[in-house]
Amino acid sequence: MDRILVKGGRMIDPASGTDAVKDILVEDGRIARIGNGLSVNDAVQVNAEGMLVFPGLVDMHVHLREPGFEHKETIESGTKSAAAGGFTTVACMPNTNPVIDSPAMVEYVYLKAEKEGCVKVKPIAAITKGQRGEELSPIGELVRYGAAAFSDDGHPVSNSNLMRRAMEYASMWDALIISHCEDADLSRDGVMNEGEISTMLGMRGIPSVAEDVMVAREIALARYTGCRVHIAHISTKASVEMVRRAKAEGIKISAEAAPHHFSLTDSAVDGYSSMTKVNPPLRSEEDVEAVIGGLRDGTIDAIATDHAPHHRDDKEVEYSMAAFGISGLETAVPLAVTHLLRPGILTPLELAERMSLAPARLLRLDAGYIAEGGPADITVIDPDCEVVVDVSRFVSKGKNSPFDGMKLWGRVLYTMAGGRIAWNAENR
Ligand code: DOR
Repeated sequence: MDRILVKGGRMIDPASGTDAVKDILVEDGRIARIGNGLSVNDAVQVNAEGMLVFPGLVDMHVHLREPGFEHKETIESGTKSAAAGGFTTVACMPNTNPVIDSPAMVEYVYLKAEKEGCVKVKPIAAITKGQRGEELSPIGELVRYGAAAFSDDGHPVSNSNLMRRAMEYASMWDALIISHCEDADLSRDGVMNEGEISTMLGMRGIPSVAEDVMVAREIALARYTGCRVHIAHISTKASVEMVRRAKAEGIKISAEAAPHHFSLTDSAVDGYSSMTKVNPPLRSEEDVEAVIGGLRDGTIDAIATDHAPHHRDDKEVEYSMAAFGISGLETAVPLAVTHLLRPGILTPLELAERMSLAPARLLRLDAGYIAEGGPADITVIDPDCEVVVDVSRFVSKGKNSPFDGMKLWGRVLYTMAGGRIAWNAENR
């Protein structure tokens, strides 16, 4: 395997608290040496001067759509999109067809990813069989086959007793339950955030309380069962506050926020573009501020894209008929740099923690850090480069983004996954 020398970058390693200019030598898929003034004759050189060198980003919430919805995305196209976005590991949700709820399906994702993927893929298995909310999946067996976590994402588990049992079983293996918090009776038929804007536009709303009641339930169940519970795509002020208090109480709760929930409000829906349709929906100004506050003080552990690629036929219809979801892998870094890093809400170390170390730790992965002997997963970012989002240039099959045409800061220059350059912006 090639030797690669990443030279002169500002190495950001939240695991050791390092923020310093370093050279990094990669050999055989691992980091061989970190130092200053390293020079190796036969190494491929990556000039990282003036750039941020992060541990490879980890996205704990993506939809790769395979098997079953290959017209929207595949493991091949989704991992290429991940690499373009700076991600070296992605955890994929089980709302495929068939659903990832059996050892055979977990194995299928691993085999497919090994053959066709260019970054690491960790399958998240369904909590209930077929995500039907009726019967538990074989959680222990799925853990043995490598399920990274458990979630019925997209189909919230409404039966509290079933969720309690899932948490009890999951805690026996220290497995993480990821909850899509939505009371389906409260959100039913809603298409956007319930509030002034939905009233003005004449659209049915999804109230913030549809999320809040389920977050309250998950906290109560996490307290009762001792299970590690993770709140997916947190989007409301009250939910952030509940997680903050639960953490202070010592409950094993964690949360993630999606870039669109810290960068857009429901006013983006004015104009009726179905690209803004996402679940949970874009919320109010107050909610967005609370999400940013949660990211700042660590109440929200991780940034996760909820990459939800759709075919244009699913989106080029009237708002109420359109599919929920945003293709998010390739805009995550620019959105985080623009809205969190440049305004000083997060330091580079904190941003690397939220986008790499924290999700890696939640999923118990050997990732999220830069150290000699560690995995050669590295992302080189130019934080001072201005970019204009152009969905036609997305690597993902899903061109559904409300950020098309937007000017942002921050560009992913190189993504190295397992010692291989999976993305080089210059060669695109
Ligand atoms: O907007 C969303 N899209 N939210 C979800 O929970 C599911 C996802 C999808 O699978 O498209």
